[in-house]
Amino acid sequence: MALLEVENLEVTFGLRQGAVKALRDVSFTVERGERVGIVGESGAGKSVAAFSILNLISRPGYISGGQIRFEGQDLSKLSSDAMREIRGNRIAMIFQDPMMTLNPVLTLGQQMVECLKAHRKISTQEARLIAVEKLRQVHIPSPEKRIDQYPHELSGGMRQRVIIAIALLLDPVLIIADEPTTALDVTIQAEIMELLLELCESNNVGLVLITHDLGVVSQVTQKAIVMYAGRVIEQGPTKEIINDAQHPYTQGLINALPQQTLPGQRLNQIPGSMPSLQNIPAGCAFNPRCEFVMDVCKQTLPGFTRSGGCQVACHMVREMKEKAAQEAS
Ligand SMILES: Nc1ncnc2c1ncn2[C@@H]1O[C@H](COP(=O)(O)OP(=O)(O)OP(=O)(O)O)[C@@H](O)[C@H]1O
Ligand SMILES: [Mg+2]
Repeated sequence: MALLEVENLEVTFGLRQGAVKALRDVSFTVERGERVGIVGESGAGKSVAAFSILNLISRPGYISGGQIRFEGQDLSKLSSDAMREIRGNRIAMIFQDPMMTLNPVLTLGQQMVECLKAHRKISTQEARLIAVEKLRQVHIPSPEKRIDQYPHELSGGMRQRVIIAIALLLDPVLIIADEPTTALDVTIQAEIMELLLELCESNNVGLVLITHDLGVVSQVTQKAIVMYAGRVIEQGPTKEIINDAQHPYTQGLINALPQQTLPGQRLNQIPGSMPSLQNIPAGCAFNPRCEFVMDVCKQTLPGFTRSGGCQVACHMVREMKEKAAQEAS
């Protein structure tokens, strides 16, 4: 049984102008200890997907279809108390903005001890020892001193380390991290990612890492899910996706990576932009931006085609596979 199974997840926003679907047919699994990246441009639905796993989608958004099973349990059937327990104990979330997690008026120690004592029957003394140990694990220097500081006394990078320490506090089996380093300097970003990778690996913690950066996905994850306009358009082993992307959108994201660009050259951005939810084109949502667009792409939504270990939602890829199979037979 997979640790997390998301099946045909659909999320709707009931807006005044009418209902729009922010996610459709999103399916993927995370095994124990597996690191999965969700990637796509702004507006693809990455955060909506992350928040809906934890039932944190807020009005006017709601889960309108599909299933989310965690350790075999259907999360949509849980009471809000049971859900809160899972959110605290089994699944941790790291947000983009550290201040969404850190309380500015409490010291690190106060908030960590409070969190531990809310979930475990331990003394303040014991909780403090665990908190210091977690701060040590994320390489906070002199953790027994730092623990009495307030969040504003720390640098951005240190704060994000504390966030990771808090995420690990209750020994979760899954961490969901939504753009955990975008608020940081580029040099510090790589360090924090390395740390997150190291800690997930050594503690066998599963990770769902949300990012718009395929470079980060390739550094940290084993499986990659590429989203466009609320749907998964390609998914499979990260290595295959990076080395042999099939979907023209994924290829575009890879060509836009800085290392694919010669010094002094402009980044190879994909022309055009992600459609808004109210204006998702018929057929394949990527068709207006696709250089390989065919008539069928404007009319029919492509289903998934297998390609190696990947699944790709693209008419061109399907036609190519069919042709290759015919020639082989
Ligand atoms: N509360 C909301 N009400 C209405 N629409 C929303 C709401 N939250 C998100 N959306 C819409 O859902 C779509 C997906 O948003 P989401 O935040 O998941 O994108 P994202 O992939 O995380 O982008 P980014 O990289 O910018 O964080 C967007 O079109 C957004 O406008
Ligand atoms: Mg987001």
